[in-house]
Amino acid sequence: MIKKVLTQLKGLVTYDADREFYAKVFPDTLDPVALMRFRKMRKTDLPRVLDIEGQGYNYPWKVGIFHDCLKAAHYDCWVCENTEDEIMAFCIVSTAVGEATVLNLCIDPVMRKQGLGRKFMEHIIESARAKKAESVFLEVRPSNTGAVALYTSMGFNEIGIRPGYYKAENGTREDALMMAYTLI
Ligand SMILES: CC(C)(COP(=O)(O)OP(=O)(O)OC[C@H]1O[C@@H](n2cnc3c(N)ncnc32)[C@H](O)[C@@H]1OP(=O)(O)O)[C@@H](O)C(=O)NCCC(=O)NCCS
Repeated sequence: MIKKVLTQLKGLVTYDADREFYAKVFPDTLDPVALMRFRKMRKTDLPRVLDIEGQGYNYPWKVGIFHDCLKAAHYDCWVCENTEDEIMAFCIVSTAVGEATVLNLCIDPVMRKQGLGRKFMEHIIESARAKKAESVFLEVRPSNTGAVALYTSMGFNEIGIRPGYYKAENGTREDALMMAYTLI
């Protein structure tokens, strides 16, 4: 109980440099998600990114898609690292004519359900705002109830359905739920 209160107090009063200090000296007392940092993805990150991708989806993207995303001028490929500089999540966003589209968001299974997906989406929304985008769009499988709950809780609204958009089991197809977040 006392440890929990101390942790919360520390979270309120510490700055970034202090957080790095506490992470080293008292590794158990700070929220690991609060210590995560975003940076742009590099080619050399791809083995780890593919590892996370492979654990995230039944039909993962192949390496060529990631290479294309890294080359595309209007794509932003982000990774999120812990204090050990290990990549724990990534996200790919395309931005054009005032619209940002989240193409892929994937969190390492060991880091899920701790608020990292929400933190990453907040980062994406703020990056889109900085680029003067008016909306953030994404598509999601309706069966991916965790992801739908995350986006809905952040203020994304359902704007339509793409019938049979995704591959599914036994050669069947699953619809895509289209969602949008308004920035203006
Ligand atoms: C979907 C995904 C990005 C969520 O990331 P996460 O870090 O686990 O999510 P968070 O911990 O930030 O959760 C934020 C909110 O999302 C919802 N949520 C996330 N995972 C959930 C789950 N498995 N079941 C129900 N709700 C869930 C909850 O509303 C949660 O809020 P709460 O903590 O107040 O309950 C992650 O599970 C993932 O990478 N999945 C594999 C790849 C994928 O499906 N990507 C999305 C493609 S559109």
